[in-house]
Amino acid sequence: MPDQEAKETRQSPQPARTAQAAAPGDRSPDRRAQPEPAAPPPAPELVSLSIDGQEISVAKGTLIVEAARRLGIEIPVFCYHHKLDPVGACRLCLCEISPGPPKPQTACTTPVAPGMKVQTNTQLAVSARADILEYELVNHPLDCPVCDKGGECPLQDYTFRHGYPTSRIDAPRLHFQKPIPLSPRIALDRERCVLCYRCTRYYDEIAWEQELTTDQRGAHAFITSQFGEPLQSVFSGNIIDLCPVGALTSRVWRFESRPWDMNHTFSVCSRCSVGCNVTLWERRNQLVRLTSHENDAIDDGWICDRGRFEYTEVNAPERLRQPQLGGQPATWEAALQAVAEGLKGRRLGISLRRDVTNEELYLLSRLLAGPLKEARVAMEGRTYLPPPQGETLRIEELDTCKAIVVLGADTEKETPIVNLRLKKAVKKLGAKLLLINAADLDLDRWPDSVHIRPGEAGLAAAARQLIGHELLQSGPVGIVHGQGPDETASADLVAAAQELAGSCGAKVMPLYQATNERGALVTGVVGRPDDLVGCDAVLCFGPPAVPLPASARFVVAWDTVLRPAHGRPDVILPALSFAETQGSYTSLEGRVQFLRPPLQVRQPLRESWDLLCDLGVRLGLAECSRYAGIFQIQRAAAAAFPALAALADPPAPEAPARPVLLGASRP
Ligand code: SF4
Ligand code: SF4
Ligand code: FES
Repeated sequence: MPDQEAKETRQSPQPARTAQAAAPGDRSPDRRAQPEPAAPPPAPELVSLSIDGQEISVAKGTLIVEAARRLGIEIPVFCYHHKLDPVGACRLCLCEISPGPPKPQTACTTPVAPGMKVQTNTQLAVSARADILEYELVNHPLDCPVCDKGGECPLQDYTFRHGYPTSRIDAPRLHFQKPIPLSPRIALDRERCVLCYRCTRYYDEIAWEQELTTDQRGAHAFITSQFGEPLQSVFSGNIIDLCPVGALTSRVWRFESRPWDMNHTFSVCSRCSVGCNVTLWERRNQLVRLTSHENDAIDDGWICDRGRFEYTEVNAPERLRQPQLGGQPATWEAALQAVAEGLKGRRLGISLRRDVTNEELYLLSRLLAGPLKEARVAMEGRTYLPPPQGETLRIEELDTCKAIVVLGADTEKETPIVNLRLKKAVKKLGAKLLLINAADLDLDRWPDSVHIRPGEAGLAAAARQLIGHELLQSGPVGIVHGQGPDETASADLVAAAQELAGSCGAKVMPLYQATNERGALVTGVVGRPDDLVGCDAVLCFGPPAVPLPASARFVVAWDTVLRPAHGRPDVILPALSFAETQGSYTSLEGRVQFLRPPLQVRQPLRESWDLLCDLGVRLGLAECSRYAGIFQIQRAAAAAFPALAALADPPAPEAPARPVLLGASRP
């Protein structure tokens, strides 16, 4: 099996089938008829079996290892992972199964069957697993005291619970050069690898990349990047989470802390509009690690490298901590008064950071409806897309689509985890894929994708020509669209996507890119002139979204750090990072999710909702004096904007999972 896996990971991608501009399609009237609505899925067929004498009924097709997990019976695994296809490479999950041959069998590759009897605790099964662990440890280095995985390492835990109590290994161990930088962010310690092939399988099955492979054979086999080149994929960091030992570690986090001296909090990624769920790891009020927190409705357990690694600015020594006025430290009182006076009566431009929260947007919407009515507003990373029209396609609904059209979007770059969801829908769930784009895409790696390259008439015309296409006749159909090359083309592209959707009963997913772009649209904060041309005062909340206009005579930089693009601001206001801010984002699919800050706000830093209220009062917006806390702002925002109704009732923070240690099961 390992050899087969290694061979599979070396396959080169096959070219996609392409079609020229007009994908013809049959346009006869009956072909244009709306497809029949999909029938509700049938109830799963149940299968009853016993595991260690306990009866259980599970859906047909469930693997024994999952059925045992539901009973609280631990079957150790290395190569098995619930998001990857089973391969049976490591043999650690051996059990006795009857009826069947009188030998240990792998629980991770065997589906349940009616009347099956599984025994995990017979002498044969227990010894078989201990033998496999002993074999895994033959060459394993005694790195645990310095290994980043120590404290959350299945190899440690399984050895304690399922292995022999003492080692019989006193021969020399294999040694490799270590650590090997697989990329600037990932290190490989080959001696620690248990050759489970989770990393190479992930690259092959989930990310569709050909960057990681296995070299040599048997005990000499090792993981390596293709041709020794650094990993380039934007999805590379997930192999760190997948690796069941300390072979793959984050070079950003390496030697920063140990699992037991960090607190972890479940929150939302702040880097783009997908809204992947993440775990923020805190140590001594510093953010030291960021990993996935699986949410099948959104991210399926994956995050991209932007989300995983771009957090170090939170701990930067150059973080702004004190307001400044004319380059000198100032009190909040003096700085905010200077801002209020500097903005009054001027042609104002506001630049917003991509991860502005719904609560901040609500307060800004009140200011823009009152004292700052004439302001122009630009947003970092915002697309040209207009507010959503009606109900939009949800990310998890991609799983049920029979056909998906990706129109004018490079999902790998723009919304990375939506890109992985598309790959899952196509490769694992059988959806047909139609791409309309002038450029090559990484989705072209799917050999059966239909890639339509629009002619001079553009993306919208190519989309309209798909009306009546045979691949869109059996639903559900999903249409995922980007923004197009400019604002005018974008409006036509959105209209074409709606027309195509209307012709085949499809749902549409507009791919907003800035983290809270959808929130900014529904609150009406963006959508007004956004080029800041001619503004003589600029309030920069975050990095400038556009270059500051030469006409600017008064500049406020409100950010976590001072950036060259801020120039020499008149007033500097220190801002909180996503790891300290309370609030929420609206994701590209319209889901309102709450930030759970793991770091305390260090004095004299102040929450941005608090500063906006203070500024509002100084600008004459009396209602701002009513808000004594963020909950009141959330309730007001929920009442004002139906799309933010979820703010009225924030869910309680999810409690960290408590580790479940099952008893030792020694031979
Ligand atoms: S590096 Fe980690 S994930 Fe990859 S094969 Fe080795 S142990 Fe498995
Ligand atoms: S896809 Fe977007 S939300 Fe998800 S991890 Fe990457 S940057 Fe964060
Ligand atoms: S977990 Fe079953 S063979 Fe690896």
